[in-house]
Amino acid sequence: MSTFLIYGQNELKGEIEVKGAKNAALKIIPASILSEEPIVIKNLPEIEDINRSLEMAEALGTIVNKDKNQCQIQAKNLNTIELPIGLANKFRASIMFVGPLLARLKEVKFPHPGGCVIGAGSRPIDLFLEGFQAMGAEIKIKNNYYHLKAKELKGCNYFFTTVSVTGTESLMMTAVLAKGTTILKNCAMEPEIKALADYLNEQGAKIKGAGTPVITIEGVDKIRAGVFNIIPDRIETGTFAIMAAATRSNITITHCQPKHIEILLNIFKKVGIKFETGNDWIKIKKNKNIKAYSIKTHEYPGFPTDLQSPYTVLMTQAHGTSLIHETIYDRRLLYTDMLTQMGADIIMCDPHRVVVNGPSKLYGRKLTSPDLRAGISMIIAALIAEGETEINNIYQIDRGYEKIDDRLRALGAKIKRCE
Ligand code: EPZ
Repeated sequence: MSTFLIYGQNELKGEIEVKGAKNAALKIIPASILSEEPIVIKNLPEIEDINRSLEMAEALGTIVNKDKNQCQIQAKNLNTIELPIGLANKFRASIMFVGPLLARLKEVKFPHPGGCVIGAGSRPIDLFLEGFQAMGAEIKIKNNYYHLKAKELKGCNYFFTTVSVTGTESLMMTAVLAKGTTILKNCAMEPEIKALADYLNEQGAKIKGAGTPVITIEGVDKIRAGVFNIIPDRIETGTFAIMAAATRSNITITHCQPKHIEILLNIFKKVGIKFETGNDWIKIKKNKNIKAYSIKTHEYPGFPTDLQSPYTVLMTQAHGTSLIHETIYDRRLLYTDMLTQMGADIIMCDPHRVVVNGPSKLYGRKLTSPDLRAGISMIIAALIAEGETEINNIYQIDRGYEKIDDRLRALGAKIKRCE
């Protein structure tokens, strides 16, 4: 298992470029199956989850030509209705292939999706199954495989009892080829959803309301395919901004969209972090004392759960007490135990809330990354800590951050990848 070795307290400075959004790429790759024409995807991040998603697309019969941060996919001939379990277990977003396959082949078999351990139990998919049933699919479950069949997919009205990002994207893209009108209510509003809808509409789909809680889709018989430019990764943007603030560094973040992390930047103003922004860059300025500020994670445009762990590391360096309330996932605060081992003063009130007292001096330790967001937070903690930190299971970090060690080393970080 490969590890990172990090020596903390090195001065960081310079520029870091944000890559394409993982959580946009993980939807457009499956969505390419909706059309028989070739799609060109640009600004693709080179990360493990994307490799898995492209492998899945190939396993289903699409032709994939990838060249660094760009790829072409053509789903003219699909040769199976089954998602291979070995691949589907490697990343949760494998479930995004189910809807398009159902729309094209009217039949699909898949195992319960895998990926990181966050989320109650093994990450429920009830909203997906209910939505597909509402569109006319029959569902059978046999030895841990779901088997969906539909004579034809028809438009439906579906109300999400829980706001779900992938649930919204999955039913929205499936409804594009259903017969009739679909109205989805209580939808997620993440920027990646609007980007996907805008692309599909350019190819002949009829989607209205993406980015608002109500999305209406008029089904069409076929859609074309064109060029999809992946938007900058807002979680990378926020993570690097927090890293700059937590390490008291002068760092400019480029190729990003500051408006997608408006909530974080407003909190930065409250806690005393100085920064400037342009239309595609953010310059974080070396700061002295920052104040503690409590957060509660919430669907977009609220505080993103994917920035909760980096922010908690920042709060270990802030003056005062902050409450971190993780409302979206169970188990997404377990990593704080490792921060405590490093010297942070964190009290777990319940599985969804921790109280952080700061500032605390952190010391290097031997850690293991449970998921990609906790993993990058350990890197930030290690960059602050005195001494050496060893982080194991870095596949979890490579799932979501392209060549993160090279990019941090370019800023002056002392980080080594040991295979
Ligand atoms: C997406 O996950 C992102 N993943 C997650 O990013 C992100 O943390 C999450 O949205 C919330 O913003 C991708 O886009 C690939 P949800 P998703 O469905 O869609 C419950 C990362 O680190 N739920 O919005 O899987 C679920 O248990 C990842 O990049 C059901 O109950 O999350 C959770 O409590 C982690 N039934 C809540 O909804 C369902 O059928 C929100 O989950 C589906 C979800």
